[in-house]
This record gives sequence, C-alpha cells and structure tokens, in this order.
Amino acid sequence: MDGVVTRTADLHAAAWKQLFDDYLSERQHRGLSGFPRFQLERDYLAYVDGKPRYEGVRSFLAARSLELPEGDSTDGPERETIHGLGNRKDRFFEQRLHHEGASVYGSTVSLIRELRATGTRTALVTSSQHGREVLATVGVLDLFDAIIDGNDAADLGLRGKPDPDIFIKAAVLTGSDAEQGVVVEDAVAGVEAGRRGHFGLVVGVDRGGNRQALAEHGADVVVADLAELNAEELQARFRERAAAQAAKTLASRTAAAWRVEQEGFDPAREHGMESLFTVGNGYLGLRGALATPLPGSQADLFVAGIYDRKQPSLPYSELEFMTQERGDYAYSEIVSLPFPLALTVSVDGQPLDLEKGPWREHRRTLDLANGVLIGVTEYADERGRQTRVETRRLASLADPHLLMQEVTVTCANHAGLVRIEATVRETPLKVNHPHLQRRELPARAGVDVRAYTTRASGYTVALASRSRLEDDVEDRSYWQREASPGAPLRLQRYVGVFDSRHSDDPIAAAVAHVQDKRWESFDHERRDHEARFAEFWETADIRCESSPATTQALRFNAYHLRIAADHDPWVSVGARTLSGRAYEGHVFWDVEVFILPYYLRTAPDVARSLLLYRYHTLNGARQHARELGYRGACYAWESTVTGADATPRRIVLKSSGKEVPIYTGYEQVHVSADIAYGIWRYWQATGDAEFLQIAGAEILLETARFWASRCVADGGRYHIRGVTGPDEYHHTVNDNAYTNWMARFNLEKALWVKQWLAEHHPEQWASLQASLALPNEELEAWQTLIRDLYVPGPNAEGVIEQFEGFFDLRDHHLSAAERFRPPLQRLFEAEATNASQIIKQADVLMLPFLFPEACSREVSAANYDYYEPRTDHGSSLSPPVHAALAARLGRLDDAQRYWRESLWLDLSNTMGNSALGVHAASMAATWQALVFGFLDVRFSEQGPVVSAEAPRRLLNEWGTLHVTLLDRGRAFALDIEPGEERP
Ligand code: BGC
Repeated sequence: MDGVVTRTADLHAAAWKQLFDDYLSERQHRGLSGFPRFQLERDYLAYVDGKPRYEGVRSFLAARSLELPEGDSTDGPERETIHGLGNRKDRFFEQRLHHEGASVYGSTVSLIRELRATGTRTALVTSSQHGREVLATVGVLDLFDAIIDGNDAADLGLRGKPDPDIFIKAAVLTGSDAEQGVVVEDAVAGVEAGRRGHFGLVVGVDRGGNRQALAEHGADVVVADLAELNAEELQARFRERAAAQAAKTLASRTAAAWRVEQEGFDPAREHGMESLFTVGNGYLGLRGALATPLPGSQADLFVAGIYDRKQPSLPYSELEFMTQERGDYAYSEIVSLPFPLALTVSVDGQPLDLEKGPWREHRRTLDLANGVLIGVTEYADERGRQTRVETRRLASLADPHLLMQEVTVTCANHAGLVRIEATVRETPLKVNHPHLQRRELPARAGVDVRAYTTRASGYTVALASRSRLEDDVEDRSYWQREASPGAPLRLQRYVGVFDSRHSDDPIAAAVAHVQDKRWESFDHERRDHEARFAEFWETADIRCESSPATTQALRFNAYHLRIAADHDPWVSVGARTLSGRAYEGHVFWDVEVFILPYYLRTAPDVARSLLLYRYHTLNGARQHARELGYRGACYAWESTVTGADATPRRIVLKSSGKEVPIYTGYEQVHVSADIAYGIWRYWQATGDAEFLQIAGAEILLETARFWASRCVADGGRYHIRGVTGPDEYHHTVNDNAYTNWMARFNLEKALWVKQWLAEHHPEQWASLQASLALPNEELEAWQTLIRDLYVPGPNAEGVIEQFEGFFDLRDHHLSAAERFRPPLQRLFEAEATNASQIIKQADVLMLPFLFPEACSREVSAANYDYYEPRTDHGSSLSPPVHAALAARLGRLDDAQRYWRESLWLDLSNTMGNSALGVHAASMAATWQALVFGFLDVRFSEQGPVVSAEAPRRLLNEWGTLHVTLLDRGRAFALDIEPGEERP
C-alpha cells in the first residue's frame, strides 16, 4: 500500500523517527547507551520500511545492540517493551494521519483503474494495522477485490514480509494463484516476498535510492513511478517473464535428464551406488566408489577378458549362494583389480573421512553426456573449519587404456596444512582381490606403478598412476601444502592400465603410456573423450520431450550399454557388464537376444565385435558339443575366454548348506541358436557381407550341425529332448517350443548362408565346405530336418505349449507378492517348481517378441493371456519382453507397468541386487520394448517404419518421442507424437 498506492511513507517515517529519537534520548537521560540516533535516509529503509510494526522495532534495536523484553500487544505505549514501543509508534502515526492526512499516487490509481477495466482483479496488502482506515481516508477502498492489512494478517496468523504469506493469501482471495499474479512493491522485503512466493512478475517501485536493492532482491522490473507502465506493457512484461521462466525450467529439467545424482551419503546403499556410478569404456570398468574408498567399499576395477580360476573357499560374487568350482577351468570368474584412483586428504593431520565425518554436503553426479563422475564433499569440523573436496573421473573412450582424475581441495574459511595422497588402493589382496599375486617392482620416480598376475590364468595387469599438483614441477603421489583460505589446490592424474592380453610387457606399456602424456594436454585428452561420447549420443540419444525422468532413465541405460563394450573382438558383455561381480562376468544369451539389437541400431561396429567374439570362441563351442556327445558347435550357456563352458555344475545355498545341481550348462542349448539369430539380425541391419564370409557363415553352419546331431527321430518326426528353455524353473524337458523353433531357424539360416556363399563367393564356399568337411548329403539332411522337426504350434485356443506336458502340470495362482522378486528358493527347489506351471521368465512369449511377423495378433494375445499370469519375473529379462508384447497388443496398462518396472530396474534397485552390477540385458531390452513394442518398428527397404498405432500407445506425459535408428549405414531420426488421449 504505502509507497505504491498511498503516500503515508513520510508519515510513517516521521513517526518512526519520533519514536526512536524520543526513546533513545530517554535512555540517555537515564545514563544508558542510546546512540547513534535514528537516521531517516539510512535506518528507515534498512530496518523498518515495509515490516510489521513490532518487527521494525526489533530489527532497529538489534542493529543498535539493544535488547528489550517482548511484552505483548496489550502493552500500553508507555511500556519499555518491543510491543510497547511498537504501539507508541502507532500512536504517533495516528496523530500525524489525523493532522496531516494521507495522499495517493495518481499514476498508480490510473493504472489500477485501467487494469480493472481489462478484467484484471486487484488486491492490496499492507502490514499497517490502519490499512483500511488510510484507504478510506483517501477514497480508494473500492479499487480492490481483496484487502489484507496488518490486523487481518494477525488474525489469520500470516507471517509478514519478506515471507510471502500475505501476498499468496491475497492471490487466493482474488481467485488466482501466485504464478498468475503481479506483485507491485516499493519495499525490499516486499519484492523479496513476491519472489519467494513465485509470483509471475514482481515490479519494484523505487521512490529513491533503492533501485539496485529492489532488483537484487527479486524485482523483475524497477520503475521510479507507475506512470512508466500501462496495462498493456505490464501484461507484455508478464508474458516475457513467463516465457523466460518456462525456458529456464525446461533448461534445468533438460539438464537434469543428462545426469544422475546422489545427495548425501547412506552406507547401506553404497554398494548399489558404486554399480550405478561405474565409469568405463569397454576395455575397463571402474565401479563408482568414493574417491576415498571406505573400508567396506567394493571398489573394483575390471578389465574385459581378465578371468581367473574359481577358488572354492572364497565366496566372491554371490549373495545367496556359492558356486564353488568350475573344474579346472582357468577362466571361470572375472578378476577384481585394486582401485587405481584412491585419494586421501588430511587437514592439519586430520584425515577427511566421510564415514567418520562430520561433513555438511556430499553429492555424486554422473554426467551422462560426457561420461564423467563428479564428487563434491564439504567437510566441517567441530571448530567450524570447512574444507571442500571436488573430484572428477573418467575412463577415456578415446584412449581405452587411460583413466583420468582431477581433484580440487579448498580450505573454504581457514588456513591449514593440507596433505594429499594419490595412490593405487591396496587393501589386503587376499580378501578383496583373491585372484591376484603382487609383482615386486623397483620404485620409479614420479610414477606409482603396480602390477599383478592372476594365479591360475597367468595374466598380468599393470596400473601406472602419475599425478601432478598444479603449481608443482614434479610428479609424485604425496603432497603437503599450507593452504590459504579460499585458495584451491588442484591435482591432475593419469592412470594407465595395460594387460598381457594386449601387450608383451604391460608394465612398461602402462608406464610409457602415462609418461607420454603431457600435463598441458590434460584438457585436450578430456575433450577427446567427451567428443567420443558426443558422437555416441548423436545416434544413441533418445528423448521424451515432456518427461525428463523417462529421458534420464533411458540415457542412463544407454550410458551403461556404451561403457560395457567397445571394439575388442575377443571379449563380450557379461550379464552385469564391468560394473559388478554378479554372474562372475560370464557371457550369456543376453548378448545376442537382448543387447545386440540395441547396438545394431546405435553402434553397429560394437555389435560386429561382439559377434566376432563368438567366432573367436567357436573352437570352445566345438569342444563343448563334443563333451556333450554331439557334433558341430554348441556354445556354452556361460562363456568367458575360450568359449569353454563356465556354467557351475552345482551351487551351495548359504542359508542351509544344501547342494543344488545346476542343469543349465548341459541343457540350455538354445544359446547356440540365439547366436545364429544375432548373426541374422546383424546381417539384416548392416548388410555386412564381409562379416558373413569371414565369421558368420561358419558359425551358422557349425551350430546347424550341432542341432542336426542333437535332434532325435521318433514316430516320423524329429524331437529335441532333455533341454532347459529360457524358463529355468523347468529342466530336462522335451520339445521346448522356444528351443525347437530357434533350432529350426538356425538350420534354415545355415542353408540360406550356404546358398548365398555358393552364389556370391563360390570359391569361398568350396574352401569352407572342405575345411568343415561338410558333404552335400549332410546339408540335404538338414532340409528334411527343417521339414520334420516338431515345433509345438498353437492349440485350439491359440496357446503354444511351453514343452511336452506343460499343460498337465499343477496350476498355481501367483499373488502379486510372489512376482518380480520371487523367493530365490523357487529356483532351487527343483522338484516342486518343476511340477508346477509357475515360470521364471518369458519363454513361449520370446517367440512373438523376436518374430512379430510370424505370430498373428490372436496367437500373441492368447499366449500372453495364458503365460503372463503364470510368470513370476524371477529374471530381469522378463519385464521388458512383457512390456513390448503388451504394447503391441494394445494392453496399455500392462505395457506401462512392465515398462516402468524395467526402465527403473537399476536406478530404483527393484530387484534388490544392483549392488552386484547393473542389468545390461534388461537395459537394452527396455529400449527394445520402446522401439519394437510401443513403436512396433519394422524395417523396409526405405528404412524404419513406425506402426500407425504407435502414437496411441505412447504416454501423453512423454510428449514427443525422439529416437534415431541406424539401418544399413543410414541414420533415421524419428519424432513420434503421442496421439489423442487414451480412454
Ligand atoms: C536368467 C537368464 C539370464 C541370466 C543372466 C538368469 O537369471 O534366467 O535368462 O541369461 O540370468 O542374465
């Protein structure tokens, strides 16, 4: 009111001056301190302007270091209390109002009238208890739809400015909300209230010398008088700010979709966070342990392809059970190496330790756009000394043997002796890195080099760390500096990682690698890495315009898939990538069926190297086929270095000590056909003829040969007996629909590739036929097999029986509680589970998922309806398959439910085991559910074709979906808008 509408500020100011002058001289007469006196130009604006009366008394007295008892509002003006003095001021004001009268600002009144004529509603707020009286005196009461004065505020319990309560209440009384409102204020506390209340526009009226303060405290516009604005201009300003605000909000939400952040610190969630915050580049993966790892951190470094023999006595990667042995296989589990970026910081001899604290702030941010992990911790000791440690780390995509780290230590408000130690973390090897033997090495100036040899497999891995403090001229691992307040100490570090798979002398290679790096090129090296990430995102980015949370999760998954693999054709992606120990780094069908389709459309060169891994392990697969008593090549259910079978034969339950036989290694043979499927899909997506000639054809033919020997003739048909399908709850079953279908597919594609080679590269076909000793009669027999192999088809209801006799098993109604995280026991109580119809994951449903064109809508629906209620989703591979099918079938609620379940599987740790690494197959299959489920993309000669039904299936809240798909060397950017509202 005052200063904007009415001109009583002079009366108020004079009343305040009269109050404090009188009171301070009284004190002086009593011999008490009372100076300096109230100065209008300074003290009025600083302490009392715009504040409720008692608050004004309090803040002025506090500025003079005077303390008075509060008293209460009934205190008479003679009382020496806060309320007494406030009431005295009020008395002075009333006297002046009476004698001198108030006046109005004509320009304000005109603006209000103009606004009201356009239908704008107006309200007046004031801290003055005489608000209504003053407005009445000057005849403007009727200009406002709502009025809140000091008395109303007290009655309603509203806090005064700078709290926004009274403004918000006024907005509500006019039937509006704050975002649609404009606050016009002359007091700093008033504009601040407008800003804090998130009003759509805050106008500051500077009646003298206050312009800057008004702007700084939240005024969007400052005018000297409202004559400077008319209704149209005000509305234009309002719209401008709304647009700027919307852009800002969108920018920050968009930025948020490029990062994953953890605030605070929770030791119980630490291992899970370490998985999520892994950095890597396909050659190595470094779990996201804190820069100063805790004693309990699972601060593993993994190098792709470095495996060692299982040690029965050491539970290594298992939560609930132990897989104790793998015979003599020297490559049975991925090896954990020491954390090479360890940092210790102490101030005046006190180590900074997150676990012991105290700390004020701790945040870890995974920058998905650039592949950088950022950590910020602010420690505050009992003496209030604050020290900030900021770290950034990356595993270079441009230089796979390079890790980089930047550290900034700042004593924020104190000087201190800072000690920084940057070393490789060597906790007892026996406990944390049981596969390693330390190599004794001579000390080397400026480089901290460590090397380890794996006990059975005999690999050597070397880590060389070289660090430099910004102002130093020497490289070393320890520093001690007197730090001045606010002056940061900056450290940079290069770590080289080499192994004997890639170098004859990994130690020399690691040392030379870091010594060749120049400190001046540090930023350059970082930019090279970031440029590779930018390149990846150019094709891999996927965005839901209105749902940053969905975009963030999709990008998080894409990030993990990118860092899981690169271009080494001798390694593949383990079930939990290089982010954790679960499944011991073993390679499953996950790669070809769930992960490969993702790379095919975003990074086909990575897909190629993954298939080459299968080519390089073909001999292992041949060996495995022979061990099982068959011909050709049977890929191992769990594979590592040579392709020999690394599946455990039995496990021991930690809870009961019970031994459980594991059949998958002998029986889950569909993996060979899954690889054939991957090759076929690769061929379709890339047309890479060279790959088929050098590797693909041989794999297709050798796996077909395995199937021919694996089938048995009976009653005029061929059968595949004694297998385990994708559903691991049922072992040793006959004619599993999925396995038989895939075997037939494998045989068909082998004959196709034979034809293709013979036609296009006859010499090569001749030489391959000779080297495989594959007579024409054998090929002809495959033709018969394709025709006569029994592949279970839909029954009268359209349902395909999962395997012979499945329909006769005990039915069991699964409750909601039994799904998604089913009791692990189910897997290990084979007799009971085998006898029921409960299934672990999509099995028959894999068929419509992988071959949409081969399954009619009716058959897909009938099988979905039959199997979905019987599936407990004991595998993370299951929900995305269900999401895809439900979406295609238009079961949109199911589709959303399953999609959400898989999209946030690791970010929300829904399976409770993300601490042991992220679920790569589920991540990639989530992408498949979107692209091949919701969008139901099919590829034609012209490129990807999105289903006409897709817009209706997308969630409105997602907004436009942007995704790019590669097809035979061309990139297709698709923008799909959600269609009309779902019923
Ligand atoms: C699933 C398999 C999968 C493996 C690795 C198991 O729980 O049943 O289908 O290949 O996990 O992800």
